[in-house]
This record gives sequence, structure tokens and C-alpha cells, in this order.
Amino acid sequence: MPLIEIENLSKVFKSTTFSKTGITALKNLSLKIEEGIIFGLLGPNGAGKTTLVKILLGMIHPTSGGVKIFGEDVNNYKVRKKIGYLPEDHRFPDYMNAIEILNFLGVLSGLKGEEIKKVSEVNLKLVDIYNWRKLKVKKYSKGMLQRLAFAQSFLNNPELIILDEPTEGVDPIGRKAIRDIILDLKKKGATILLNSHLLSEIELVCDRVAILNKGELIKEGNIEDLLTSADTYIIQCSDMSDDIINFLLLQKKATIKSKGEFSIKVKDYLELNSVIDFLREKNILIYSLVKDKSSLENIFINLLEHHQVNN
Ligand SMILES: Nc1ncnc2c1ncn2[C@@H]1O[C@H](COP(=O)(O)OP(=O)(O)OP(=O)(O)O)[C@@H](O)[C@H]1O
Ligand SMILES: [Mg+2]
Repeated sequence: MPLIEIENLSKVFKSTTFSKTGITALKNLSLKIEEGIIFGLLGPNGAGKTTLVKILLGMIHPTSGGVKIFGEDVNNYKVRKKIGYLPEDHRFPDYMNAIEILNFLGVLSGLKGEEIKKVSEVNLKLVDIYNWRKLKVKKYSKGMLQRLAFAQSFLNNPELIILDEPTEGVDPIGRKAIRDIILDLKKKGATILLNSHLLSEIELVCDRVAILNKGELIKEGNIEDLLTSADTYIIQCSDMSDDIINFLLLQKKATIKSKGEFSIKVKDYLELNSVIDFLREKNILIYSLVKDKSSLENIFINLLEHHQVNN
């Protein structure tokens, strides 16, 4: 059974001064998220990511359709107890320090005093703000606040952790630390739902991704499958003569990187093998042959451009 089941979910925000007809934030969205994975939710500003997260947490209600987490209704408080959450626009009482904030949130999560103290120390050390634990958070920098918000999201050992832009405002070293903690949480069995604009980051940690645009799901899949383009290969080989290079360039439309490396788009394995046969006949040694990988950013931009044109 999937951990999160989203079925035909739609959310229309009532009309405002800006839009008389209301704003459709989610349109017939269906999605299943399996347990134990890191799932990335991508999409441009206003795509509906935070709206989806808020519905998953029971903070706002859908206009139609439904969501189940652990097979239960999201409004069941027992479900919420198993979830950790880092909101996009968190605000902490600025007269408190990090210890006091984690203590307060720990109590709200139902943890006991000693346990909160122990976990708070561990988490603050993990996100590297332990030395500032007694400083009032009004004196914190943006990145320090974000680290604190992240530290509280897994305070109560949640089975599902929902992170809305966890690395916003965090420096590269801090981002790497957050990524490592996310991977570690997954290793310990948690499922993580991650919203982020930093696609390179999503690429580094996520197992699966969904791409939303204007409230619609435009792509969902395994990250490796998305990144691997099925029909383009990079071949490294011994130095080729100008004749061979010209043949590859003109007849096979290959992209030549150097005398010993090119990429080629083929229609099937037979064509790929015919290229290898050709090279071997010319006594060229093949050093490596790998499928080309696109960056998530390229895929994302292509998909969105295509979706924009067709809508
Ligand atoms: N409370 C609200 N009232 C009216 N409209 C809203 C409300 N919350 C969100 N929206 C609208 O719903 C759409 C989706 O917003 P949402 O915050 O879910 O986007 P997002 O994908 O999280 O964007 P971002 O990447 O900028 O965080 C937007 O058009 C937004 O204006
Ligand atoms: Mg958002």
C-alpha cells in the first residue's frame, strides 16, 4: 500500500479582487508515493506545491478529491503525529532561543522533557547551530533560522517528513549537510517529501519526482529513468582519423567532442551495434559506451515549455 495516496485532487481558492473566477491551484491530481523513498515535488512558482503539502497536512481542505496517508484520512490526528513538517514560511517567536523553541515544539508533539532535551541537542548539532542554541532567534541569520526549522522537522522521529524548500537561504556547506541528514533519515526508514526549486539538489537525493505546472501533474517517475535519455550514447574510443570523424558527423549526425569521444543518437540497438562494427572494422578500440544523461534542469525546462505551448 502506498504511504500517500492522492486521488483526483482539486483545489480552487475562492474569488479575490485579482480573480473573480477564483484560482485553481490543483487540477485533478492523482499520485501515489511509496514508503521509504525521497520524493521530490517540482514546479515553477505558483504551480501548487505548497497547496498540495497543506492539504496533505490537513491545514486546508480540497475542493474535490481526496488524500490518504498511511491509509487514513489526513484529518485523523493519529496520522499527523507521524508527520514532521518544515513549512515554507515558518515564523518562530523571536524572543525565544533555539532550545526553548525545540522544547515548545517537542511538547506539542507529545515528547517528554528528557527526551526533548536529548533529541534537541542531537538535532542542533546535526544542523550545526548548537553553539548558538542560547541566542534569541531574532538575532539569527536567515540560514540559521532555516537550519532550526529543519532541525524541528524531525524532532519527533516522524515516519513521514514533509520539507517545503528546506535549503532556502542556506549556504552550500549547510545544503550539503541537510542533504546528508535527509539521506540518513531515509536510511533509518523515513519517507521524505521534498519541495525544492534547486533541481540539482533534487537530482542528488530524490528517488522519484513529480513535476507540477499550473496545478497539473505533467510528469512523474523514477529519477534515473527521467535523466537517462533512451537513445543517445556517449562513446569513448582510440583516436579516430578525419575520415571516420567526417563519416560520423555527416552520415550519423554525431556530436564530436574530440578525436576519441563523440555522442550519437540511434533509433535502436541494431543501429548502435552497426556504429560499433564500423569503428571496429577501422581498428578503433572502444574504451567506454554509456547512455547520455540530461540534467533535471534541462528536462524541467523542456517539459514546462512544451506544457506552456499546449495549454
Ligand atoms: N490562500 C490562498 N488564497 C488564494 N490563492 C492562493 C492561496 N494559496 C495559494 N494560492 C494560489 O494558488 C496557486 C498555487 O500556490 P502555491 O503556493 O501552492 O504554489 P507553489 O507551487 O508552492 O509556489 P512557490 O514555488 O512559489 O512556493 C497560486 O496561484 C497562488 O496564488
Ligand atoms: Mg510553495
